[in-house]
Amino acid sequence: MSSSALFAPLQVRSLCLKNRIVISPMMQHAAPGGFANHWHLVHLGKFALGGAALVLTESTAVSPVGRIGRDDAGLWDDAHVAPWKEVVDFVHAHGAAIGVQLGHAGRKAGSKALWEGGEALSEAQMAEADPRWVRIGPSAVAAGEGWSVPRAMSGADIEEVVAQFAAAARRADAAGFDVVELHFGHGYLAASFLSPLSNLRTDEHGGSREGRMRLALRIAREVRAAWPGDKPLWCRLSVVDGAVGGWGVEDSIALVRQLQDCGVDVIDCSSGGLTEQTRALPVPRGLGFQVPFARQVRSATGVLTQAVGMIVEPRQAEEIVASGAADLVAIGREALYDPYWPLHAQAALQPDPQFGDWHLRHRVWLQKRQLVLDRLKGAAD
Ligand SMILES: Cc1cc2nc3c(=O)[nH]c(=O)nc-3n(C[C@H](O)[C@H](O)[C@H](O)COP(=O)(O)O)c2cc1C
Repeated sequence: MSSSALFAPLQVRSLCLKNRIVISPMMQHAAPGGFANHWHLVHLGKFALGGAALVLTESTAVSPVGRIGRDDAGLWDDAHVAPWKEVVDFVHAHGAAIGVQLGHAGRKAGSKALWEGGEALSEAQMAEADPRWVRIGPSAVAAGEGWSVPRAMSGADIEEVVAQFAAAARRADAAGFDVVELHFGHGYLAASFLSPLSNLRTDEHGGSREGRMRLALRIAREVRAAWPGDKPLWCRLSVVDGAVGGWGVEDSIALVRQLQDCGVDVIDCSSGGLTEQTRALPVPRGLGFQVPFARQVRSATGVLTQAVGMIVEPRQAEEIVASGAADLVAIGREALYDPYWPLHAQAALQPDPQFGDWHLRHRVWLQKRQLVLDRLKGAAD
């Protein structure tokens, strides 16, 4: 039996995760028309082979309006289901669970990939890419310098977005996903409703904290109703948005208590992203820089939390779970650096000379490799 907290299984509703390691959502800008393709099969499939318990997709748009970049993955159309199902089936065949992160960019729609500079597209560039692609938000407040002012959403726009999240969740189920993660962080649509800096509405979706939380809670409730009751629901929050006068830890704790009542099972604790101003006031990026948020949210609410952000060392990850800061750790860039990070972490924490958790096609070769290495080491000693 495993004595490692990181490699202990975790049951969430009907899903049994084999360990506590999750691949964090990572935007690929590689899905023209919103369709998953061979890139996603290999990119996400390799993380299943690498031993993660749960692989999360990149932010996947619930509508063409809600795309962050032009080539975001999508689940806004039934035609998106079949290509996703191929990815899901491959990941399942290799022992991992897979979740889709559902997102709507809101006023932060229309940005270039980071390797192209990451800046905002002009409205003309967005319209040229797709006439449906426009910036919408709670109020006519731009996301920052270089960003155009979004159209303040009408009541009908809000109803439409809630319905789009629910429809995307139904498609996610049809594709066989095990988990839906709602992307309520990083300044995108739901986060922009939460913050008093971006939400200046005076109707029921603005004003008090209760009003600003209404959209997020409605989405969570409608998605929960559309998503099978035995499948778990994750939610990513920017626990603090990092802006002066913005959304903070106490606000997140109040929101999480209500998200729990809506049937959200796991809170993925991220931070930042609301405005350009956030960039001037970053949460300092040390090792495990967002772990304290996961710990605070977990201890205040009892919800399962997922920690993320510069989790890079097996012992660091082990300590996060063993100390009760979080129930799960998500790795992003570290998984890009080493897609086999979970298996390597396992080798570091509880070495198995039989390589029993490695793929059958590789296992015997790794055993033979190890014999040679051990013999060479013995000769050198
Ligand atoms: C290439 C890349 C793309 C990302 N795309 C998303 C995304 O689609 N949704 C999201 O919530 N976070 C996204 N993030 C943030 C990561 O999920 C993660 O929270 C962040 O990178 C910190 O974790 P790390 O230090 O392990 O990389 C992205 C990060 C990277 C590196």
